[in-house]
Formats: sequence, structure tokens, C-alpha cells
Amino acid sequence: VARSIPARTSLRTKLITAVLGLVIMALVTISVASIYVLRSYLTTQYDTQLTQTFASVYQTCTTNGSYCTLQLTGNHEGTPGYLYSVTSTSLSNAYAGIQIPGSQLSKFSTGMPGVGSAKQQQDVPELPTASSWAGTSGAILESVPAQSGSGTWRVMAETVTYRYDAITGTQQGTGTLVVAVEIGDTTSMIKRITAFDIAVSAAIVLVLTIVGVGVVRANLRPLEEIEETAEEIAAGHLDRRVPERDPRTEVGSLGRSLNIMLSQIEYAFNAQQESEAAAHRSEERMRRFVADASHELRTPLTAIRGFAEYYRQRGGVEQAMVTGNGAGEHLSPDDLDRIMHRVEAEASRMGLLVEDLLLLARMDQQRPFDIKPVDLLTLGADAVQDARMMAPDRSIELEIAPGAAFIVDGDEARLRQVIGNLMSNALTHTPAGTPVMVRIGSGTLESRQPAVVLDVADSGPGLTEEQAQRVFERFYRADAARTRVAGGNGLGLAIVASLVAAHGGQVSVQSAPGEGATFRVMLPLVPEAQSGELDDEDAEASS
Ligand SMILES: Nc1ncnc2c1ncn2[C@@H]1O[C@H](COP(=O)(O)OP(=O)(O)OP(=O)(O)O)[C@@H](O)[C@H]1O
Ligand SMILES: [Mg+2]
Repeated sequence: VARSIPARTSLRTKLITAVLGLVIMALVTISVASIYVLRSYLTTQYDTQLTQTFASVYQTCTTNGSYCTLQLTGNHEGTPGYLYSVTSTSLSNAYAGIQIPGSQLSKFSTGMPGVGSAKQQQDVPELPTASSWAGTSGAILESVPAQSGSGTWRVMAETVTYRYDAITGTQQGTGTLVVAVEIGDTTSMIKRITAFDIAVSAAIVLVLTIVGVGVVRANLRPLEEIEETAEEIAAGHLDRRVPERDPRTEVGSLGRSLNIMLSQIEYAFNAQQESEAAAHRSEERMRRFVADASHELRTPLTAIRGFAEYYRQRGGVEQAMVTGNGAGEHLSPDDLDRIMHRVEAEASRMGLLVEDLLLLARMDQQRPFDIKPVDLLTLGADAVQDARMMAPDRSIELEIAPGAAFIVDGDEARLRQVIGNLMSNALTHTPAGTPVMVRIGSGTLESRQPAVVLDVADSGPGLTEEQAQRVFERFYRADAARTRVAGGNGLGLAIVASLVAAHGGQVSVQSAPGEGATFRVMLPLVPEAQSGELDDEDAEASS
């Protein structure tokens, strides 16, 4: 039945239909069964007594021999064809008579003595009229209607040979001995009970429909909410969630699973958008980098071209001397020297720039380094030494935290470049005479790994918060006017950041305007030094 219901029917309809179908089936089964039982009870309720009565009537009937003569009270004989009331049994309304084949039994004619009251014709049972309809081998039980009216009779009958002594002579023949009891109007009773049954069943079905629709609707409400949520999510509201319900219920656990799934989808979706945005940002950065790089390269190139043009306009050294054309000014060998010096300076600045760019590009490609254990203490000490020579007017100090090793795995030349860039910044971007301090100590990385910490601190002009955030960008210069004079490209710190990141470390700056700047490099400590199991050689090297 369930399979023949079309797929488009709603779950609600299916559920209610199924429940109602089952209930109706149950009600019909109960009604049919109970009516059947009731009917058989009503028709057979007197069967035992009827059988006893029949037996006693049969016995008195056949006491005179092999034929049957109906014995009435007061030693009278019953006339065949008439129905007499039987008084001697537990059945108060039993009747007996001998039916002559081809005719019905009729009421007892009044005036016969010694019997019960007469029966009205309409109350007499309607018997079959064929001879020996009751059979000859034992008595049979039968239910028959009354000859008129709606009553029903229960009849026990047996084919007998009867004999009757009338005044006109002895009558004899084959007849049917009938003992009958009126069992009332069973048909209309059954009809009434059936009608009552149908009415009650209909009421039950009606109530059940109303209650069922309500219950099913209330229980399907969470599913509708899930559906609504799904629609909202489809419309783009990824943050919507199915309302929480008790997870012990089916709908509750479904909702929970859905919510978990939705969170994962939202997470994945956000991550994808994030990575798209990141890709977009890096592309943007790259475009800006290329633009900045070309711009930076153009500056020295313009200068070089300027000098070349100046030289050509003057017609070169010899021509100028021969023709004396142009602005009339001659290029002296001194002028040429000066121009050539400037060209050389610009070219070497360009060379440095190209060098830096190449380095950055190589690091972007993640070229492998020449990794060896490097003692940062040596590097720091060397850098301080160099700086002291370059700026004898400054106080440049090295401060070392006691009792620790400062060995990191790295490319020594690159790490020297990191410290060198920081030192040169401290010297170039602060006024002459400003003291510089290099501190070496221990710390931990964000990844909780033990690290060597190298600080380059100065008490120069410092950086604003916005500048501090941007100093590690390529080509960023905090004060373009000032540093242009100092010849900076704005790549030094970008290179520092790239190199430190390539070594698995972190770089940061702490600064405020007027309070100097402290650049901090943290590099992971070599694993051997982490457990404090440094051998003596290393310990000596670091001291
Ligand atoms: N110690 C410092 N004190 C104040 N400002 C600084 C300091 N170090 C760097 N800056 C600012 O940060 C900017 C970026 O420094 P970065 O080293 O990247 O470039 P640069 O020094 O200008 O050029 P170069 O590529 O030659 O190093 C500098 O232009 C400067 O304005
Ligand atoms: Mg610099």
C-alpha cells in the first residue's frame, strides 16, 4: 500500500493516511469479528437445552414402538400438523409438533385439553416442506424465520414415522418431528449493533484524524524549520543554523548533524574566500613591487642618461674644442671626470638595487641556503666592531645575557646581512652621535620554540605606529625626503624580514616617535643547545 502512494504525496499526508488506514482496518476487523461472535451466540444460545428437550420429546414420542406419537399431558395424543407448547422442560417457550411433508405446521386449534397456550399463526416457524428435509440419520439443528413478522426460530428436527389414532381411523406416514424455540428478532438486533458499531467507529476515526493531524503537524514543524533554514542558506546566509533541539530525538540529532556540517561548509567557504583574497593581495603586492622596482631603477637611469645627454650636447671633449658649437661652453677634462664619477655612482647604486632585488626574488623562490650552526654572538660582536669603525663619534655597545648559548642553524653570510642591514639603518636613520645598543639574549618564538633574540636599539627619532607597521614592506621609506639623501632604497628591512622568515624566525620593531627604535630578530635555537647539552668546543666558541 505504502509503495502505491505517489512520491509527490507529502510525508504528513502519508503518515496520517497510513495511521487512519490501519485504524479503520482494525475497527472493521473488530466489528466483523464481534458481530459474527454475537450472531452465533444469539442463534446457538439455547442449543443445549433445545437438544435436551428434543431428546425427551423424542423419547416420549417413541415409547409405544418404532413409530412416533406425540404425547401430550393428560394422556392425549398430539395431532400431526399442529404445534404444541412443551411444558416439562427448562425451556419455557419450547414447542413441539409433527410436520406432515408438503405442509407447514399451524397453530394449535383451541379447545384441545392438557396443553399450553396456543400460538399465533405469524409466530410459527417457516419450515422446509420437502419430505425428510431433516434427514434420517439423527436430528439436525436449523435457524429459520417466522412465517410472518421478523422473528427467528431455532429448530431441531428429525425425520420420523408417525402414527396418530384419530376418530376416523389411524393415520400413519413419514413426517418430521420438530422441536422449536423462538430466539427473538436477531436480525434487527444485529442490524442495530452494526449501526452502533459504525457510528462509534466513525467517531473514533474523526477524533483520530483531528488529533493525528495536530500531532503530525507539531512533530513535523522542526523539519519545516530545517527546510526554511536550508532555503535561507541557499539564498546566501551561510551563518544560519537549524534551531537546536534535544539531540536524543531524531530531529534533534539530524539538526545537530546539519549544524556541524554547515559549520564545516562555512569554514571551508570562508577559508576559500580568504585564500582567494590572499592570492589577490599577493598579486597586488607583486604588481606594486614591479612598479616600485621599475620606478626605483628609473631614477639612476635618468641620472645616467642626463649625464650622457649633457656630454653629447657639449659635443664631446674633442668636438667641442674643434667646432666650439653648442652653448659655447667647452667640456674640460675635469668636467668629464666629474660626469664619469656621477655615472659610476649612479651605476653602482643601480647595481646595489639590482642585487637587492635579485636577492629578494631568490628568496621568494625559496632557494636553499648553506645551512650550518652559526653563533649569533660572533656575528653581533663583528657587526658592533664594524659599526664602531664606521661611526667613531657614536657609542655602540654590545650587551650579552649571561649563561646561555646563541647558536642557530643558518646561512652565516645571510645572517651577517640581517645584522648589517639593521646596524646600517641605526646609523643612517638617526642623527650623528646617537648611541646604538646591540643586545643578545634568549626568548621563545610564537611557536613556543626556544630562540636567540637579537635587538638593535637606538635612541633616534623613532617611528610612528603607522610607519612601524610598514617598515618591512619593500621600497617603504618612513621619511622619503630624508632617506633619499641617505641613498636608501627602502629594501633593507624587507630583505631582513625575508631572510629571517627563511630561517624560521620572527622580526619585529618596537618604536614611538622621539623614543628611538628597537628592531628585534628572533631565530630558533639549535636543538642541541635547547637541552643544554652543548659540548665544550661550542661553549668556548660562543664566549
Ligand atoms: N633605526 C631606525 N630609526 C628610524 N627610522 C628607521 C630606522 N630603521 C629604518 N627606518 C625607516 O625605515 C625605512 C625602511 O628601512 P629600510 O632599511 O628598509 O630602507 P632604507 O634604509 O631606506 O634603504 P636600504 O634599502 O638602503 O636599506 C627607512 O627608510 C627609514 O625611514
Ligand atoms: Mg636600510
